[in-house]
Amino acid sequence: SLAGLDLKAEINRLRKERNAVILAHYYQEPALQDIADFVGDSLDLSKKAAATDADVIAFCGVRFMAEVAKILSPEKKVVLPDMNAGCSLEDSCPPEEFGKFRAAHPDHIALTYINCSAAVKAHSDIIVTSSSAEKIISQLPRDQKIIFAPDRHLGAYLSRKTGRDMLLWQGSCIVHEAFSEKELLKLKAQHPDAPVAAHPECPAHILDHADHVGSTSSILAYVLASPSQTIIVATEPRIIHQMEKAAPHKIFIGAPGADGNCNCNICPYMALNSMEKLYLALRDLKPEIIVPEDIRLAAKKPLDRMLAMAS
Ligand code: 13P
Ligand code: SF4
Repeated sequence: SLAGLDLKAEINRLRKERNAVILAHYYQEPALQDIADFVGDSLDLSKKAAATDADVIAFCGVRFMAEVAKILSPEKKVVLPDMNAGCSLEDSCPPEEFGKFRAAHPDHIALTYINCSAAVKAHSDIIVTSSSAEKIISQLPRDQKIIFAPDRHLGAYLSRKTGRDMLLWQGSCIVHEAFSEKELLKLKAQHPDAPVAAHPECPAHILDHADHVGSTSSILAYVLASPSQTIIVATEPRIIHQMEKAAPHKIFIGAPGADGNCNCNICPYMALNSMEKLYLALRDLKPEIIVPEDIRLAAKKPLDRMLAMAS
């Protein structure tokens, strides 16, 4: 039994013993963010995973993120505290169907959001994240036909923003779809001076009310730079932990779901990881991420293209 264990001390001991680096996404529970060597958005975490000289990467995030770490650093052991930490966007894009969709549109390139399986990446031309997509699209020839998968809301947002028509795969994030426009308008009426910062995985009826749209790191930078005392945050609410740490005098309000609070917007996949499971992952070096070498090599190409085009 783990009862009575000082999990923080044990994780710190194992991190040294295993020469491990702990990477965490902003949507992880506060204790995991606090014990991580590095906390970031999907692009930051990919870069860190590619550059680290640790022997083990303990990835506190969801499975596709840990897979990216393995694809970029195959000689490292990559562990994910809970192997069931998936993503609704990944689930909405089965590799075989995506392969068929691609084959039906041979004159299009596939620009694919990093929130997908390694097998879908292997069928893609360029991977993008929320923080790199606009920069990457701006480097593509104007007449280039583009398939964008799997997030239809991010795809629609990017189309509006860049003026490029893209063929959209109809996937979505269950967390960002749960925000209620009606409740958001009520909240805005209560806090008329509070700007709204939103993630582009939100549907257009939420983004229409946003003062800033960007990736998690971009939202964090925006709220810290904002002169406003109160800010409404329309993304997974656990990122508010970093905001409160960096700006304890400001007030951050998570955008509400239909029930009027932001708890329904906690990502159920991210929430599967815990301090206990991180401890066990470092102790037992499992659950371990394995990516078959043919898929890894095919998925690495569009990821390398992203890293080159985003820098
Ligand atoms: P970013 O951290 O890249 O903005 O991604 C958000 C997200 O939904 C990750 O699953
Ligand atoms: Fe996937 Fe949405 Fe959870 Fe991010 S917040 S991991 S996109 S389900």
